[in-house]
Amino acid sequence: MDDMRNKNENNKNTINSDDTAASESQIAVHWKEEAFISPSVKFIAQANMADPNIRERFKVENFPECFREYADMLTWDKYWHTTLDTNNPPFWRWFTGGKLNASYNCVDRHLAKYKNKAALIFVPEPEEESHIVITYQELYARVNEFSALLQDFAELKTGDRITFHLPMVPELPVSMLASARLGIIHSEVYGGFSGQACGDRIADSGSRVLVTIDGYYRSGNLIDHKVNADIAVERAKNLGQPVDKVLVWRRHPGKYVSKSSMVKGRDFFIDEVIKDFLGKRIEPLPLPAEAPLFIMYTSGTTGKPKGAQHSIGGYLSYVAGTSKYVQDIHPEDVYWCMADIGWITGHSYIVYGPLVLAATSVMYEGIPTYPDAGRAWRIAERLNVNIFHTAPTSIRMLRKTGPDEPKKYSYYFKHMTTVGEPIEPDVWKWYYEIVGKKEAVIVDTWWQTENGGFLCSTIPALDLMKPGSAGPGLPGIYPVIYDENGGEVKAGSGKAGNICIRNPWPGIMQTIWGDPERFVNTYYSKYNKNKASKDWRDWPYFAGDGAMEASDGYYRILGRIDDVINVAGHRLGTKELESACLTVLEVAEAAAVPVMDETKGRAPAVYITLKPGFEGKEQEVTQKVISTIEKEIGKIARPKYVYVVPDMPKTRSGKIMRRVLSAIPNKLDIGDITTLANPEVVEKIKLLVQEEG
Ligand code: WT7
Repeated sequence: MDDMRNKNENNKNTINSDDTAASESQIAVHWKEEAFISPSVKFIAQANMADPNIRERFKVENFPECFREYADMLTWDKYWHTTLDTNNPPFWRWFTGGKLNASYNCVDRHLAKYKNKAALIFVPEPEEESHIVITYQELYARVNEFSALLQDFAELKTGDRITFHLPMVPELPVSMLASARLGIIHSEVYGGFSGQACGDRIADSGSRVLVTIDGYYRSGNLIDHKVNADIAVERAKNLGQPVDKVLVWRRHPGKYVSKSSMVKGRDFFIDEVIKDFLGKRIEPLPLPAEAPLFIMYTSGTTGKPKGAQHSIGGYLSYVAGTSKYVQDIHPEDVYWCMADIGWITGHSYIVYGPLVLAATSVMYEGIPTYPDAGRAWRIAERLNVNIFHTAPTSIRMLRKTGPDEPKKYSYYFKHMTTVGEPIEPDVWKWYYEIVGKKEAVIVDTWWQTENGGFLCSTIPALDLMKPGSAGPGLPGIYPVIYDENGGEVKAGSGKAGNICIRNPWPGIMQTIWGDPERFVNTYYSKYNKNKASKDWRDWPYFAGDGAMEASDGYYRILGRIDDVINVAGHRLGTKELESACLTVLEVAEAAAVPVMDETKGRAPAVYITLKPGFEGKEQEVTQKVISTIEKEIGKIARPKYVYVVPDMPKTRSGKIMRRVLSAIPNKLDIGDITTLANPEVVEKIKLLVQEEG
């Protein structure tokens, strides 16, 4: 099994070379330019940022000092002396000399004014279960108690890593803030990921403590989640990382719902252990601005996920500034971001951004269409949510299941966000007209796990909206589009290229955990011309997305240009999918490509060939491939199609032509195949794909 993986890794360079790549960006649809839509006067009148002078304040001549404006939204234990230290490019250091604590900034500092205000409102999926309202005072108590437990019972200290494998439950933000209080670096693994995927991340981050939960509700089912912890710990151990404590929250304290047994001396119920820590208070540690706050894993072009490491000072400043100006969060708002905290969107815009601004942040446990298509709008009505944030995938799903449902509920949104994938103008318009009732302003925010916060978006009260376009670079973000040779692709040229950011910004990741070389290579080597330069202007950040800039300066993001598929707003590496396929005994070769999907935007399709002697086993192997992918990665990676083909189209030098494989199901031009070693196989594959529908 392992041999196969290695073999696959070794093939990386050949499979991924430019002439054979099939990327999202290449299958992008080019929508026609849409007309501008203005934000309402009512919105503008109350907006946090309605001063057109902001672009002047954040113009390049004022960089990097302009970002003081964001850092000043925080409470510092010690003021910084250097706004941006560029001594070791591209490892930028923001606000050096400064000290602060993220937990203090999100909790303690609000107590004087807002202690009785809801910080979090947790909405369980079962509709008959009551909401759980956690005030700032209550959050303060819980965070302190869990922090004391982490320090004294789990024996964790500043700089140690801790892995969470938690779904959407209030214990997740409590765990994050409790860690941040002590400078323990948290690494939350999306709850829907498999135990194996969690184990890989535990090992990579070097965590010896795992925090999990017994179960949670999704689509009406009580999911057994603790079982994943046993798999994760085993996997991590095999990779050389022992886990000595598994801390288990219980969905209903005192009532264990998992089938997996508690391992003596390793597994502990938090609701039992915490009894020794009730009433305990932990002083928030003043930590250096550039100390890490958390790691968030994301997929890249190799099989190994990358741990994006985010700082305390830079990250928190950037999410504070963008939450205030782009999300327009005021303390009196009820803000609901329907993302999962297991992804960066949830970290930045459910937990850290809203709480740093003392907002009320709503968390929903389940899926927005459970038990029916009206659920999301009932929640909005009941809680009087006025800011709503979600992804095109959910918008498409809500439209499909209940196109007129929002009309039945009297909620009022002043502001809505779309994030994570390109949104079709048609879907945008439904969001605007039906969900937003033509009143809510919409921001289409483009950014990535690596970025900490939004990069391109309109400023809601200042800029006009354009369906299908993210908008200009945000204040202090200077995007540029380069062609393959580093030439600038001009605005309005109608040409697409690689979107880059010319400058560092406070939210940018600090490095890839444990792999600084990969960090430099992935994001900076492509367009850096002088490695010795200490001038940030020589280090454009390469985002890995194809984009076009219209003559008005609005960016339209086309999708990934690398071997990453954005499924329902979540990133999957084709290499991870292929590695999983290759662990199936019967599989000889595997190639994963993106295909268009009506709801998810893109979905993975997998092509496999069988080893000799397994002819006739196509059906069986297909099932095995699907279950292996779910087991190795998680349900979100389930391929839309598995095509068992007689052979892969290959160049004469043996490279798999993924471009051809992607073109077929997407009904795109296959291009010239006469130079292939086996052009005749293309027709056979076409027929197979047609049969599959
Ligand atoms: C990739 C990043 C951080 C947001 C959640 C996903 C795509 C993101 C947009 C948008 C078009 C978008 C890009 C990007 N993407 N936002 N508004 N319009 N595409 O974070 O998992 O790190 O994925 O999502 O392709 O590279 P992620």
